[in-house]
Amino acid sequence: MATDNLPVYQGKGWFGFASEIIENIAENTQALEGEYGDFYRIKRMPAPLYVVFRNSVVKHVLQTNAKNYKKSSIYDELKLALGNGLITSGGDYWRRQRRMAQPAFYKERIVALFDKMVDLSIAYVEELEQRTNPKESIEINQEMMDITANVVLDTLFSAKDYGDESELYHTMVNLQEYVIKRVNNPFSIPLQYVNGNHRQFLKEKKIFDELIYHVINERRVNKTQHNDMLNMLLDAKDADTGEGMSDLELRDEAITIFIAGHETSANTLTWTLYLLAQHPEIVEKIRAEVNTHFGDRRPTFQDLQKLQYTRQVVEEGLRLYPPAFAIGRESLAEDTIDGVTIPKGVIMFINIYALHRNPKYWEDPEVFNPDRFTPENVKSRPNLSYIPFGAGARMCIGYHFAMMQIQLLLALMAQRFNFRLKEGHPVETQPLITLRPKHGIQLFVERV
Ligand code: HEM
Repeated sequence: MATDNLPVYQGKGWFGFASEIIENIAENTQALEGEYGDFYRIKRMPAPLYVVFRNSVVKHVLQTNAKNYKKSSIYDELKLALGNGLITSGGDYWRRQRRMAQPAFYKERIVALFDKMVDLSIAYVEELEQRTNPKESIEINQEMMDITANVVLDTLFSAKDYGDESELYHTMVNLQEYVIKRVNNPFSIPLQYVNGNHRQFLKEKKIFDELIYHVINERRVNKTQHNDMLNMLLDAKDADTGEGMSDLELRDEAITIFIAGHETSANTLTWTLYLLAQHPEIVEKIRAEVNTHFGDRRPTFQDLQKLQYTRQVVEEGLRLYPPAFAIGRESLAEDTIDGVTIPKGVIMFINIYALHRNPKYWEDPEVFNPDRFTPENVKSRPNLSYIPFGAGARMCIGYHFAMMQIQLLLALMAQRFNFRLKEGHPVETQPLITLRPKHGIQLFVERV
């Protein structure tokens, strides 16, 4: 019979509450590895929290017995803005939505959006070439947020057709910020009902809903065809019933894709540029690869696929700074994993950040080394030790989209610029919904 012989971390706060961990849950739970290992329990968080960065346990929770683990309640907070979209929904409803949305994310369909991505990315680097100067550093995280938001909006709704500085953009960004505030500091929630923030949120939500319903309606009535994801979602049909998505379902999936799809990519780009600023020799290698495959010519999707080294750089960036730094699941019934009893109703906190730095799977884990991702090295990697996009049935649907966008922008930037860190500017991770740089990243971006 299994026994609960897991190491237990007793919190240092009031009533044994592990408040000292919360400040940076990704790094602080990793830091306990020496004493507690890669699978342990935190006694009060306020409920017990099972910290996991051992691949066999990850496999069990996300794949082998995934049906016993539902998304944890933190996702409910996201429902406020995201509604019942792919990230927040569960059960049969999620299964149906995933099946319908899946074809829109097939590689072949995503490739159709490549041209739009190239247009926006080239316009961005050309504009940056004009603006940047060697004496002034820029905050690269905000830059990456803006460009990735533009790309997602245009590939999702053809937002450009609705005006460049569209209200859709502003309302979506504001909705997201409000939800992040709530998730980040649950104690502020009551305050937000008093200080008007919640009312403001409802107002923004109403504006957003009206805008998106207007776009959906216009497309349904005029049968206008656009090359974008909304079009693909409008065409999607349930294989059993032949029915499409309702307006509400489309709205929920659209905002889900926007929120899931841009901050993650923006943070990957930011952290990778931060790493590259410390490794000019790697920037040179990317530049050489880019110049071999397309140089001054406009890149095609085939060109992008040939950028093997650039891809490895992105993968290594995602290893050290996985934007989705953790996955939370709640056990539905008692279970046994690696000889340990997992009670019903507890949270399994899969710390992807720590998994990617677990010395059992990675040699010199803190070192930035894109060679870890050569095809030979990937083959010999332990299963489930690298999961920036999750694993199992709930794995990221936007994988191809994300890789295409990140690789493209990184290639175009490395081709044109050198990067240098601003000395003295603090760099710290801040795990909110995604792993952000707490104080931004200040870079000197110099034309080659
Ligand atoms: C570097 C970029 C990205 C990373 C690291 C990332 C990571 C993840 C992870 C780890 C999950 C699984 C969450 C869980 O199991 O609880 C997920 C789910 C999801 N992602 Fe991404 N993602 C990225 C980009 C995107 C993009 C570009 C889109 C859309 C265009 C997207 C849409 C989604 C959706 C809709 C889900 C929910 C899937 C489901 O449960 O069926 N993601 N992502």
